[in-house]
Amino acid sequence: MIFKRTGQFGFLLLTLGCIVLGQSIVQANTQSRNNFLGSLFPPGDTPRLTGAKLGRQSINIMKSPSDRSPIRQYAARTQASAVSLSSSMVQLGLALFHDKNLSNPPGQSCASCHSAPEAFTFPDAVTNASSGIAPGAVPGRFGNRLPPSVTYAKFSPPGPYYDPNLTAYAGGQFWDGRVINLTQQAQKPFFNPNEMDDIVHNVADSGLLAQKIQSGANAQLFEKVFGANAFNDSPQVNLSRVGQAIAAFESIKAVSPFSSKYDDYLTGRTKLSQSEMNGLRLFTGSATGRPGGPANYKSAQCVLCHGIPTDPSTGPDIFSNFCYANIGTPRNLHNPFYYQTNQATDPLGYNPQGINFVDLGLGDFLYPAAGLPPGNAGKGNNGQGDYLAINGTFKAPSLRNVDKRPYPSFPRRYMHNGAFTSLKQIVHFYNTRNLTTKPREVIDFTQPDPYAGLIGKPLWPPPEYPSSVTLQNASGQPGSANAQVGNLGLTPQEEDDLVSFLKTLTDR
Ligand code: HEC
Ligand code: HEC
Repeated sequence: MIFKRTGQFGFLLLTLGCIVLGQSIVQANTQSRNNFLGSLFPPGDTPRLTGAKLGRQSINIMKSPSDRSPIRQYAARTQASAVSLSSSMVQLGLALFHDKNLSNPPGQSCASCHSAPEAFTFPDAVTNASSGIAPGAVPGRFGNRLPPSVTYAKFSPPGPYYDPNLTAYAGGQFWDGRVINLTQQAQKPFFNPNEMDDIVHNVADSGLLAQKIQSGANAQLFEKVFGANAFNDSPQVNLSRVGQAIAAFESIKAVSPFSSKYDDYLTGRTKLSQSEMNGLRLFTGSATGRPGGPANYKSAQCVLCHGIPTDPSTGPDIFSNFCYANIGTPRNLHNPFYYQTNQATDPLGYNPQGINFVDLGLGDFLYPAAGLPPGNAGKGNNGQGDYLAINGTFKAPSLRNVDKRPYPSFPRRYMHNGAFTSLKQIVHFYNTRNLTTKPREVIDFTQPDPYAGLIGKPLWPPPEYPSSVTLQNASGQPGSANAQVGNLGLTPQEEDDLVSFLKTLTDR
């Protein structure tokens, strides 16, 4: 059976991609990471799901692999992970996702920040033009991160998990993977003070949420799905039902439709232009455009983190391994969170560090989850520092729909903090992060002061978290196994080709 080989791709690509510098540190700590994760997740709820496991899940619900036409096979593959759900469950999820009555004060729904025509990202052009950081239900409050796309989010494996074979963390939801899956994720925004704010006397109040649903337009549908006496159950039970329904909606095919030009190219319905094809070849480093093919004349190595399977029959092309990496994204100084320092007006969601705030990504979640300070640094430091090599790392998002917008001039923002405004800018960043205005001068972020003695002016502001331990290709040397980022040696035309290719990933 062709589908038996499912899953191996996950290992291969993850092994190559998202390798953190300081491998010795990683290996030396393999044991402690295992114990560490053991303490993070209760037995039986272990997140150490691999690509293989995920793949197998897909096989179980494959309908009939008897039809071998490429288009039918492709359709089967891309639908493979759609869970079979009652339609009223999905309808309920859709209704709750769009219910503006569930915030406190009312007025904000999930869709306020994840809107379909913008690929379930933030729909407000003015905000996107200025910072990309979404305001919450309470006026004047903002979270610290950019709303990512919900399309293809369901493909992120439960996590974050660490597999010593992969030397990388992967999976989970949010930029820092702090919840395991969509069902858990969907229960969080209601109680985020800078989002939907269902908080009473400084305590998250699931009773308030249940009440709002019970007295709102979706009460009947809720009872239809979960039983006539559903609202007699505890608010906690109903909260998990809300998560279940919203995740069901987020998992439907219409949210992750695989209807892009790239998908048509895979099924032979259309051809890629010369520029798009060259972009795909650069992206994968393979002359065929499929990883594992003969080496292309040049590689931008994007596929090492934004992975697709070597064998296309093994699973859909998601363009992410959902692995964690620090690519050196600079700070977004327009992020309103820097200035949200008032404890009195936002006691649970204010930013005590002000302009000095540094988002440590996975390090802000995994260390505290193990009872250590954020980043395992500063006061209370147990002396080991970033021993897991995770500070400043974020989940590599799927690149599907990165260019989806309701009209051509609609502004979009990218990265965990919204620092970048265009795909061209991003590709140019990957190409030149370590360079200065002086030709051939390379910034070496492994040096104590990487900017000391430079003759030219750096092309980019410093990384938000410039760590020689986690920054991908910190030294900026081209050609090494770890040189995925910062000095790729692409020509302007090759940068444009990569952008053309990324634009083929937009769903209809
Ligand atoms: C005020 C804006 C806002 C609202 C309202 C909001 N979100 Fe989000 N959403 C965000 C931001 C910002 C993030 C990233 C946060 C982080 O990584 O810490 C996010 C992350 C997510 C993710 C993770 C995607 C990924 O790839 O990791 C999902 C799924 C999601 N939201 C769904 C929802 C649902 C469901 C609701 C309603 C219950 C909702 N959001 C309400 C702003 C919002
Ligand atoms: C070492 C792993 C890695 C490699 C290699 C890599 N990326 Fe990324 N990519 C990431 C991570 C991690 C993020 C999120 C970073 C952040 O939020 O600071 C990201 C974000 C992006 C985004 C923004 C997506 C969004 O929705 O905000 C784009 C576009 C992108 N990468 C394109 C590329 C391209 C093109 C290449 C090849 C030139 C590439 N990446 C190579 C890990 C990688």
